[in-house]
Amino acid sequence: MTTRARIVITEFMDERAVAQLAAMHDVLYDPLLVDDAPRLIKEAASADVLIVRNRTQVRNDLLSALGQCRVVGRLGVGLDNIDVSGCEAKGIQVIPATGANALSVAEYVIASTMLLLRGAYTATQAVASGQWPRAALSNGRETAGKTLGIIGFGSIGQTVARMAHGLGMKVIAFDAMLTADAAVFRQTGIAFSSLDTLISQADVVTLHVPLVETTRGLFNAARIAAMKKGAVLINTSRGHIVDLQAVATALRSGHLGGAAIDVFDTEPLPADVSLQNCPNLLLSPHISGVTFEANERVSFMIADKVLESLN
Ligand SMILES: NC(=O)c1ccc[n+]([C@@H]2O[C@H](COP(=O)([O-])OP(=O)(O)OC[C@H]3O[C@@H](n4cnc5c(N)ncnc54)[C@H](O)[C@@H]3O)[C@@H](O)[C@H]2O)c1
Repeated sequence: MTTRARIVITEFMDERAVAQLAAMHDVLYDPLLVDDAPRLIKEAASADVLIVRNRTQVRNDLLSALGQCRVVGRLGVGLDNIDVSGCEAKGIQVIPATGANALSVAEYVIASTMLLLRGAYTATQAVASGQWPRAALSNGRETAGKTLGIIGFGSIGQTVARMAHGLGMKVIAFDAMLTADAAVFRQTGIAFSSLDTLISQADVVTLHVPLVETTRGLFNAARIAAMKKGAVLINTSRGHIVDLQAVATALRSGHLGGAAIDVFDTEPLPADVSLQNCPNLLLSPHISGVTFEANERVSFMIADKVLESLN
């Protein structure tokens, strides 16, 4: 029989998955704990398991406070909020929910691609108020036949590729850890491309890389300038990878045809006048991977893996 462990959950988790954990262990579930640093540190001291989403920074003071923790469960992927080597040094296993929100992110990317290429979905106010901006909205672009460049060909990148392929897009991909002869390119039928070629050829570029030193600042002003005129840029990966001011400048000049940005250097994004009224810019508050279904899958995956690790 397993002894009861103390599980501290610092951000939102599907309540049925929480109940699954609570049936066997002592659970503190407080989705607001992440915002109360002194209490978080106090509760962490006696935690055998810590479950976090992306806002809890498991490093420095919090990591030091984890006196008896064996497992950190991450309700999502992307481990940039966790000092993974620091955890390893303390014998703490880090468990991400690999793949569990890939579908939600991929659908967000495909929807943004179609919305931004077509550019026809901002006329509600005008049409409802009796205007008829038909001529202005008659130059939208079709998605089929366009080239989608995927940077980072892991779980999400491959899911996006499958969907885009189904829409008749030409898909090319770059991944720093893969070479052109990697099996995944044969299996998916997607063409490998160098980063520079991808950037110069794609009508839509979408980023699916982790935030690490080699991706920090990857999409700077120079790389944005190297994109095709009128191309669309989508970032659902992490802040600090795309230079948002350079995106705004390129949208205003017409060099970029559209952008969808879900992740930011600082979250919540501080009010920024340069982003307000920027043409063809879709901003969302880090939700591309968070849907009803993904939350359920992510939560149950982490609950199952935590229970397994405690057995
Ligand atoms: N906005 C959201 O809600 C949300 C949700 C899920 C994931 N994400 C982000 O998306 C990222 C990707 O998720 P995933 O599940 O596909 O991860 P993954 O680990 O399956 O794939 C990431 C891929 O990026 C590649 N890569 C690493 N460094 C690279 C570089 N310098 N250049 C090109 N490729 C590089 C890796 O080889 C890997 O194939 C996560 O790290 C996370 O930051 C965001």
